[in-house]
Amino acid sequence: MQNTHAPLIDTYNRTITSLRISITQRCNLSCIYCHGEGESISPRTLAHPQNEISRETIASLVRAARAHGVRRIKFTGGEPLLRSDFAEIISELPHMKDISATTNGTLLSECAHDLAAAGLHRVNISLDTLQPDRYQRITGHNVLNSVLDGVAAAVDAELTPVKLNMVLLSGTNDEEIWDLIDFARASGDVILQIIELMDFTGVSGSVDMGGIEDTLRARASTVITREMHRRKKYLIDGAEVEVVRPIDNSIFCANCNRLRVTSDGQLKGCLLSNDGLVDISNATEEEIHPLLEKAVAMRKPYYRPSV
Ligand code: 5AD
Repeated sequence: MQNTHAPLIDTYNRTITSLRISITQRCNLSCIYCHGEGESISPRTLAHPQNEISRETIASLVRAARAHGVRRIKFTGGEPLLRSDFAEIISELPHMKDISATTNGTLLSECAHDLAAAGLHRVNISLDTLQPDRYQRITGHNVLNSVLDGVAAAVDAELTPVKLNMVLLSGTNDEEIWDLIDFARASGDVILQIIELMDFTGVSGSVDMGGIEDTLRARASTVITREMHRRKKYLIDGAEVEVVRPIDNSIFCANCNRLRVTSDGQLKGCLLSNDGLVDISNATEEEIHPLLEKAVAMRKPYYRPSV
C-alpha cells in the first residue's frame, strides 16, 4: 500500500496507525463502570441517532486516514451493532490490514457471519463474568446467554482472534480470572484481555494489577510484549492472556498510536481528554486531510513521565 500523504506524527513523536471510531452512543446494556468512550452525553440509552456520524463521513475519513498510513480501524459505541447500517459501513471501507469492532456481544449471534462477509476481520467482546447473576449486576441485564452465543458465533464466523474484554472490579469479578482463562482456552481462537478499571463512577476499589501479572507470569510458558501500548501477553497452557494497564502509565500513553472519533464525528486525541476536538462531521475526504493533521498536532499523552 502506498501512502500519498505524510504520516500523522504528533509532537510527542507518536505515529497514528489506527482509528477508533465510535458510531453510536446508544447501548442496550448499562454497565456500572462504562466510560462511554470519553463522551459525556446522557442518558446514553436515550441518545438520539440523528447526530451519529454518517456512513459517507466514515468512508471518507478512513480513505483519508489510509493515505496517511493508518492501517487499523476499530469500531465502538455505545454498542456498534445497534447501528442498522453497520454491515454497510464496513463494506464501504477501502482495504485495511485490520478492521475490528468492540461489542457487548448480545446481538452478535444473529449477525456474525454477515459482518464477516461485509469485511469485518475480528471482534472484541465485553465479558466480565461467566456468572449470570453477576453479569446482571454489572450490566443491568440478564442476557449472559446471548453473549455466550455471540462468542461462539464469532469464532464460527472466524472473526478471530476473538478477544474477551474483562474489566477487573475488585470484590466483584477479580476471583474469576482463572475461570475466564479456562473459558477462553476452551472456546477456540479466543484471547482474554484483562483490563484495569478506569474508575470514573466510584464502583470499585483498586485491584493490584502488579500482583495479578506476577501470578500470570508464574504460570506462563512465554511472555510477549506487544507494540500497542507495550502491553504484556502471557501464554498459559495454550491460553493467551493480555493485560491492559492504562492507569498512571506513561509508557502506555507514550506508545498510544490511535486517534479516536466520537459518535457525532469529532476527532479526539485521547480517551481522557476533550481538549482539541476537531469536527469532521460534514467534511469531504479532501477537507479531512488537514483536519487529521490539526487533530494529531494537538494530541498530548494524558500520563507523562514525571520530571
Ligand atoms: N474502565 C476500563 N475499561 C472500560 N471499558 C469501558 N468502560 C471502562 C472503564 N471504566 C472497556 C470495556 C469494554 C470496552 C468497550 O471499553 O473493556 O469492553
